[in-house]
Amino acid sequence: MNFISVVVFSIVIHGSWSEEQLKFPPSFMFGAASAAYQVEGGWNVSDKGLSMWDKILHDRPELVANRNNGDVACDSYHLWRRDIEMCEELGLNMYRFSISWSRLLPSGFPNHISEDGKNYYNNLIDGLLEKGIQPLVTMNHFDLPMSLQDLGGWANPLIADWFADYAEVVFSLYADRVKYWLTINEAYIQCDGGYHMEAAPFFEDMKLGRYLCNKNVLIAHAKAYRIYDEQYRYKYHGKVSLSTLFFWFKPFTPEDQEVTDLTIEHWEGRYAHAIFSKEGGWPRKLEKLLNDNAKKEGYWHPRLPPFTPEEIELVRGTYDFYALNHYTTRLVRRVNPGEPPGKWFFEGSDELNTVMFKDPSWPSTPVYWFSVYPPGLREQLNWLNATYDVKEIIITENGVPSLDPGLVDTQRLEYYRDYLEQVLLAINDGVNVTGYTAWTLMDNFEWLSGYIAKFGLYAVDFSDPNRTRTPRESARYYSSVIRSRMIHPPQDKTKLNYV
Ligand SMILES: *[C@@H]1O[C@H](CO)[C@@H](O)[C@H](O)[C@H]1NC(C)=O
Ligand SMILES: *[C@@H]1O[C@H](CO)[C@@H](O)[C@H](O)[C@H]1NC(C)=O
Ligand SMILES: *[C@@H]1O[C@H](CO)[C@@H](O)[C@H](O)[C@H]1NC(C)=O
Ligand SMILES: *[C@@H]1O[C@H](CO)[C@@H](O)[C@H](O)[C@H]1NC(C)=O
Repeated sequence: MNFISVVVFSIVIHGSWSEEQLKFPPSFMFGAASAAYQVEGGWNVSDKGLSMWDKILHDRPELVANRNNGDVACDSYHLWRRDIEMCEELGLNMYRFSISWSRLLPSGFPNHISEDGKNYYNNLIDGLLEKGIQPLVTMNHFDLPMSLQDLGGWANPLIADWFADYAEVVFSLYADRVKYWLTINEAYIQCDGGYHMEAAPFFEDMKLGRYLCNKNVLIAHAKAYRIYDEQYRYKYHGKVSLSTLFFWFKPFTPEDQEVTDLTIEHWEGRYAHAIFSKEGGWPRKLEKLLNDNAKKEGYWHPRLPPFTPEEIELVRGTYDFYALNHYTTRLVRRVNPGEPPGKWFFEGSDELNTVMFKDPSWPSTPVYWFSVYPPGLREQLNWLNATYDVKEIIITENGVPSLDPGLVDTQRLEYYRDYLEQVLLAINDGVNVTGYTAWTLMDNFEWLSGYIAKFGLYAVDFSDPNRTRTPRESARYYSSVIRSRMIHPPQDKTKLNYV
């Protein structure tokens, strides 16, 4: 990389920025992310219990493309040393991974802690720290123990106490070394997806199940946060939050602003307002609208299960930073007369009578609802800063899918370049973004799309028993950004959008 070309290129984009402004702050943490069920495999080793994904995909393999499952996945249960080596090759400051609840607590409860499970995560954490890489640990990334699902899972209010017990075990084992915690990943997918056939437990219950789950994850998160706050913070000074899936939404026409605001409340507000807003509880306008919908449909109880005043106080303020999973932006409008609302979560909402779609000028990806609109990330970061009293934001997922397993992944490289540039712009706006973990370190089991959708900085050969990992062009690019702490064009200038 020629330094002069970096500067010239940057001036083209950023006009009169100083050299300082072109750089990520020295403390900025670059990382990559993964999740237990998507990479570990080892589903039946030693005394591990079954997660709901283990059990349900064995019983109903047709739910996933090519009848794939995570039995072996990337075999990170055995290949964790190679995973750490990849983090080191990239020059990462941080690695986000999740703990498998049923690997650590085979019954789902703390009556028995698995020695092998405990040691697996000890090895991973210690191995990362030896290389100077901060672990960012998610406690539950969709893989609830099946034993707890059998008792009603996230729809049973007792889950909040079961999760708090699990969190207490996790903190007691690892909080001496782990400083960044996420309780629950993408509650939106867990609840709105899990009760709409898009994720385990694969139920279809959009009127009740998803909203019971919605409230229970908030209480579960809050109880875990309070345990850290009361018993661990004074000793270890770490930070706890939960990661929120938040597409950015824009109105199709100026008249669609109101329904776009409601869409944001329906997606993000239902999982964030109770925690991050000053007043707590459900977003007010949305709560009224949903409860009116329920009344019209003849239900006797509100659709959003009410919080008691004590519960509002329990949940309010249970964050040390905002963890944002951002992938894409959607345009929103109300349905036209006679037009059905969108059926799937990225197509619109039957509660709000909306459809969502992409602007035709935004580049497409192989996944039809996923388009590339980098400025959406900067707009969203500014919105978060203006809406909540958050002193720190970490982007805990961002990345783009391809279907091509090859190593030349130009769209991914450009996606990272252009989205990271928007992060830098937001930092210069004055939004305190302190870290970024790319989704994802390596190709893995991508839920309903099995092994077809590739998000990896590293390609994984799933036909090779060794699950060989090979860096893609995007990995080399990301590594050069991390090392220089600057955005710069790839070597091949013909691929650039800007010059
Ligand atoms: C574990 O599952 C694998 C298939 O993924 C199977 O080959 C192996 O025999 C199982 N091991 C045990 C101990 O059940
Ligand atoms: C950003 O967050 C970090 C970590 O909490 C903190 O040390 C720093 O002071 C914050 N910066 C600003 C400008 O608020
Ligand atoms: C972010 O929020 C803080 C606190 O409300 C505010 O002082 C600051 O101006 C905001 N930054 C931007 C870019 O709006
Ligand atoms: C898998 O790894 C083992 C041990 O490193 C090696 O002996 C073997 O040749 C590898 N197999 C393949 C297919 O690469």
